[in-house]
Amino acid sequence: MRTRVSNYGVLVLALVLVGGLYTAFASPGSKAAAPVPQSTAVEAGRQLFLQGCSTCHGLNLQGASGPTLVGVGSSAVVFQVGSGRMPLAAGSAQAPRKKVKYDRTQIDQLAAYIQSKGGGPEAPTDAQVAAVADGDLALGGDLFRTNCSSCHNFAGAGGALTRSKYAPALKAADARIIITAMQSGPENMPRFSDNTLTLKEKQDIAKYVRFITAENKDPGGAALGHYGPIPEGLVIFLVGIGLIIVVTLWIGARA
Ligand code: HEC
Ligand code: HEC
Repeated sequence: MRTRVSNYGVLVLALVLVGGLYTAFASPGSKAAAPVPQSTAVEAGRQLFLQGCSTCHGLNLQGASGPTLVGVGSSAVVFQVGSGRMPLAAGSAQAPRKKVKYDRTQIDQLAAYIQSKGGGPEAPTDAQVAAVADGDLALGGDLFRTNCSSCHNFAGAGGALTRSKYAPALKAADARIIITAMQSGPENMPRFSDNTLTLKEKQDIAKYVRFITAENKDPGGAALGHYGPIPEGLVIFLVGIGLIIVVTLWIGARA
């Protein structure tokens, strides 16, 4: 009995010792990173901009082969770089979504730099993006059908526009990209300022878009590309009638 108690004693002592040593020697760097001061982010963003963007947008954001970025705001940067559209690779009718080239910290630094030059619509904070989860799905659906579905289709499947441009499918866009798209209005898409759609309404729309493109598992069966009732009817007609004809022929052949 006594040896067992002393064994426990040794074990507890050893644990306390290890814990104490760890706290004493753990490097301060392993603690949660302190937020980067704004001026450092702007300077880091300037460096990234000079390396990756200035050939097209000019050394002072004045524009060259690409448009000026003075006053576009952090929101446009988060949208363009965060969806991989920028840096643009080759000239095409429209900047396509690509693999994202910069990490989240770098995107925020680029955004801080461009925001510091002339302001403009500001990208949502992480808390504002997270609040999308509490959005009003029904209201978001109403707003989406009034403001967005004419171009993006009522199920967010995308659609063609004039002059070989298109409104893309919304499946790949996360909540941050959806909100910044509305704030910055890329290419042919209109800009939805906070007077047109408040931040709360944008969050509701983002919730609805995520729901119809990613979270809804199509409980009714195969989605057939979400093209709506006409292709669905066509499939029912062709497959259904086809089956009936096959069965009729089979019954006829047996008789
Ligand atoms: C090869 C040239 C090229 C490079 C490199 C490039 N851009 Fe662009 N950028 C363009 C063109 C052209 C447009 C306009 C076409 C469009 O919007 O699709 C544009 C548009 C933009 C817009 C939208 C402007 C607006 O009015 O809403 C932003 C923001 C932007 N670029 C940021 C960047 C950033 C940040 C980088 C560097 C990471 C970058 N671009 C690199 C050519 C380029
Ligand atoms: C006039 C047509 C039009 C309307 C209306 C419109 N959009 Fe767009 N949208 C576009 C076009 C065009 C693009 C592609 C821009 C580009 O490639 O630079 C786009 C891009 C987007 C993207 C980026 C998708 C991706 O690939 O990451 C999102 C998200 C988006 N729109 C959401 C919306 C929402 C939400 C609304 C309604 C509030 C809306 N759009 C209204 C035309 C439209």
